[in-house]
Amino acid sequence: MGLKVDEGTIDKIRASVDIVDVIGEYVQLKKQGRNYFALCPFHSEKTPSFSVSPDKQIFHCFGCGVGGNVFTFIMEIEGISFPEAVRLLGEKAGIDVPLEGNQNSQTNDRLAILYHGMELLTKFYHKLLLDERYGKKALDYLRKRGFTGEAIRRFQIGYAVPSWEAATRFLERRNLPLPLFEQVGLLSKRQFDGKIFDRFRDRIMFPIRDAKGRTVAFAGRVLGDQKPKYLNTPESNIFHKGRILFGYDSARPAIKRKNEVVLFEGYADVIRAYQAGIDNGVASMGTSLTEDQARLLTRNAEKIIICYDSDEAGTNAAFRAAEMLKGFGRTIKIARMPAGLDPDDYITRYGGDRFRNDVIGASQTVMAFKMQYLKKGKNMNDEGDRLRYIEEVLREISTLNQAVERDHYLRQLADEFSLSLDALKQQQYQIYRRRKQKEEDSRHESRPIPYRNGQRHLLPAHLAAERQLLAHMMRDADIAAEVMNAIGASFHDDLHQALAAHLYAYYEEGRSPDVAAFIEKLEDPQLKQAATAIAMMEISEQASRQEIEDYIARILQYGTEADIQRKERERKEAEKRRDYETAAKILAEIIALKKR
Ligand code: GTP
Ligand code: MN
Repeated sequence: MGLKVDEGTIDKIRASVDIVDVIGEYVQLKKQGRNYFALCPFHSEKTPSFSVSPDKQIFHCFGCGVGGNVFTFIMEIEGISFPEAVRLLGEKAGIDVPLEGNQNSQTNDRLAILYHGMELLTKFYHKLLLDERYGKKALDYLRKRGFTGEAIRRFQIGYAVPSWEAATRFLERRNLPLPLFEQVGLLSKRQFDGKIFDRFRDRIMFPIRDAKGRTVAFAGRVLGDQKPKYLNTPESNIFHKGRILFGYDSARPAIKRKNEVVLFEGYADVIRAYQAGIDNGVASMGTSLTEDQARLLTRNAEKIIICYDSDEAGTNAAFRAAEMLKGFGRTIKIARMPAGLDPDDYITRYGGDRFRNDVIGASQTVMAFKMQYLKKGKNMNDEGDRLRYIEEVLREISTLNQAVERDHYLRQLADEFSLSLDALKQQQYQIYRRRKQKEEDSRHESRPIPYRNGQRHLLPAHLAAERQLLAHMMRDADIAAEVMNAIGASFHDDLHQALAAHLYAYYEEGRSPDVAAFIEKLEDPQLKQAATAIAMMEISEQASRQEIEDYIARILQYGTEADIQRKERERKEAEKRRDYETAAKILAEIIALKKR
């Protein structure tokens, strides 16, 4: 299963995809000067420090330090290996990726085995559920809750029997390495003797699949009301719950066809809704919607309908999800059910037709939903309550970006309470200005120091000079040659020294300057990050000879200065020992150094 891709193909793919397009599919990029900026997808932050350079075809985060070229990005964000990233981008660029040899990394083999095993286990649990001898109790439970056979098949629902070794032995019989499945949390290891056993026992098993339909995790539900209700396999190298939507792989065709997706809270909701004809439903994994999930939701659909439980917690979660989806330029609606019901309950009580028509079909805009929500617990005949309500609605309206939208709801409010539209508009504008002012103030307080200034001032002059030189060397082979002659490997910082060595080697192969291609050669992630950080520095476009020579001089001079200081110390020690002969010799050396 190992695969290796030849270098020519890698170069061809790198040259034909644009890093800005690729990264733009995952994060919202904003152009600023020559580069693009975004909130870093690899760490959580409030102000964008993730930057992408179209000129250099690299990305770098000044906040957390990640960086690299287009392949690095895909590897990181998709959690896949280098050859897989090459293949994925190859597909995008319409370039065939021929595979070479069979010698490549064990990681690929391990991943392939893991996916294979997960698939076998999915089928194993599913079969057990449908087997009278083992799964009757579980199947009865599901039937009683209204799950149909067809839905059970579509979602490959299964059952883990009450045994400590059913899955373990199943894997063993197929010669699959148990530690691999212990790592992803399907099996457990006994502390005192290291014996491996089944972690999931007597539970309904919901396979959780990635967008490609591969099982990457399981959620195991108890058959009764015991707690905890769900036992999930934990995050692993194949499962990042913030990037997965339950049901996405099987719903995708319907999502595309209907240009619409319905977001639920629970697995059970997705499945029951499917039976009611809502085949474009998905669920987040029991956590608030993440940005990655929002991206997945908005990728194939113009319209997103949020259908969460209609209790306090569910309503708040729906607002948060709506907020997360806001920036993606899609239509967001919220479906409402009578208080206290979740979709599953609703369908049981009122049937699928009413769910389709009165809940999903009658979903409202977020604003309309909020207006209704804000009315709760207020008496509209009471003047105080009424004014409070109007103020709260105006505050919501002032967060809307489109004038038409604001106008629509202002009119609605004016009609409902027989108020003058102008007065409402004025008040709403004031609210808007006040908020803007507040935001402006807090922005000034917490503006971070830009990396390129901050970092450089902290660096001693000789190290700053090394960075400057490396940045120029990455863009100019002649400068690299000059530095090689003058300094060679004598950079003072280990990372700088390694980068210089790699640069010399890179140009020696007859390659021309190309930061993205250069980074390809660096295997050590720390080196990669240092290289991207340096490549992203703002340096003079055309370095003068003088500038380069100054940097070189500063580096060499630092060497001399450090040498002199060391020799001074040695001389003093020799004098202390009364070894005047050695002291005199060292002094002569110091004088020679100083002359240079
Ligand atoms: P039913 O109770 O069978 O209707 O399941 P449900 O999927 O509808 O669950 P519910 O609506 O109570 O919770 C929504 C989602 O939260 C679930 O689908 C899970 O993703 C998550 N969740 C709920 N309870 C637990 C739990 O005990 N552990 C974990 N890990 N997740 C849970
Ligand atoms: Mn439920």
